[in-house]
Amino acid sequence: MTKEILLNAFDMNTVGHIQHGLWRHPRDQSHRYAELSYWTDLAKTLERGLFDGIFLADVLGVYDVLGGGPEAAIRNAVQIPLADPMLLIPAMASVTEHLGFGVTCTTTYEPPFLFARRMSTLDALTKGRVGWNIVTGYLDSAARAMGLATQVPHDERYDWADDYLDTVYRLWEASWDDDAVLADRNVGFYTDPAKVRRVQGVGRYMMDAMHLCAPTPQRTPVLYQAGASTRGRQFAATHAECVFLNGTSKPQVAALVADLRAQTLHPLKVFVGATVVVGRTDSEAVEKLTEYRQFASVEGALAHFSASTGIDFAKLDMDDPIPSAPTQSNQSNVEAVTTKAASVWTKRKLIDSFILGSRQAPIVGGPETVADALIAWVQEADVDGFNLSRTVMPECLDDFIALVVPELQKRGVFKTAYRDGPLRQKLFGHPRLPSAHRGAAARIV
Ligand SMILES: Cc1cc2nc3c(=O)[nH]c(=O)nc-3n(C[C@H](O)[C@H](O)[C@H](O)COP(=O)(O)O)c2cc1C
Repeated sequence: MTKEILLNAFDMNTVGHIQHGLWRHPRDQSHRYAELSYWTDLAKTLERGLFDGIFLADVLGVYDVLGGGPEAAIRNAVQIPLADPMLLIPAMASVTEHLGFGVTCTTTYEPPFLFARRMSTLDALTKGRVGWNIVTGYLDSAARAMGLATQVPHDERYDWADDYLDTVYRLWEASWDDDAVLADRNVGFYTDPAKVRRVQGVGRYMMDAMHLCAPTPQRTPVLYQAGASTRGRQFAATHAECVFLNGTSKPQVAALVADLRAQTLHPLKVFVGATVVVGRTDSEAVEKLTEYRQFASVEGALAHFSASTGIDFAKLDMDDPIPSAPTQSNQSNVEAVTTKAASVWTKRKLIDSFILGSRQAPIVGGPETVADALIAWVQEADVDGFNLSRTVMPECLDDFIALVVPELQKRGVFKTAYRDGPLRQKLFGHPRLPSAHRGAAARIV
């Protein structure tokens, strides 16, 4: 018996997200990312397909490692232009009732007080449908944009993030009592001052503040994280309720999942990245893949992978092994093609692996084939669901909803209606952080 599969659409407020070059496909609409109706239509589509959420990625810098400059990324629309993801959420929430919103925000560059207020505002406006993908950033260009000479070192960024989380937990969980707001016209008190208190920052975060927002349905948003290095997994196990992993092999992902589950004291859902090209039959899907492939961009994929590993692939010959130098960038991406790879990776092999403009190989087939593949991931790698990357938009989601969702429902592994309540309630059965979670300790003041 396979557990119920969770589904997020993986997206970004940009043209090229994961599969690069597909914006050139004549039917692709991703160039409309700056139109509100593009996002409200997308939200309605996802809710029609009973998706659990839309997960919005974000970075704060340009990809300028390939060839030592940003030209390749700019030419190929590799996550540039890139607009703010948070501002899309109220619009999408206004046309949906159940869809969750996971939004990526970094702990490295913004004071926790300001961030916590924006998140609480979103949690209130969405009636508790918001999640936070906690990232620490991996780009030197982002560090420079924020006035630093270089990035905070990899493991230290996670130390900062621990303090950041402990600080925002205090704002979200401890600053206001549940019954602080009276809104009593007769008594004439809006809020009881005895039930709102100042809280202090933790570690490197100097703060002495009252949270400015009244309690929201979830208080702390659902916490997502996607670090797969040793330090990243330690951080994820401490804070994350949902973890995103990327991986090509099921045994490798299964090992990461087992490690995370063993370290985590609270309930945990694991999502794995997936790209699906589905047709009515296997052969129709293969034809579609062939058609899509013509538009994939090797240069765009290299620009992305260079930035997320810190390795300038323009400097490597085609058959040089990929070097495993220490990086302040994304360590798990480097490990995947060096120390933790089953065989030697070269630039040539890397380029050959860019089927649709990224390293994520698509699952290709008719509904039964795709459902078999997704179920195999759940059974063999012990994941709970998928973070579906987009290909040609919005066609890829329309196809998935028309063909794959009914097949998964037929097999009893996908819901046929939404559950009620906030996002955490839908995912875990309770709206607030559970008492075993580190953030719940902040409630004791
Ligand atoms: C599926 C997935 C989505 C991610 N999304 C983002 C993102 O939107 N923004 C970001 O800065 N980092 C993102 N990351 C990077 C992670 O947050 C993290 O920085 C990265 O995995 C490196 O951490 P590690 O060195 O601990 O593995 C993502 C990673 C994965 C696997």
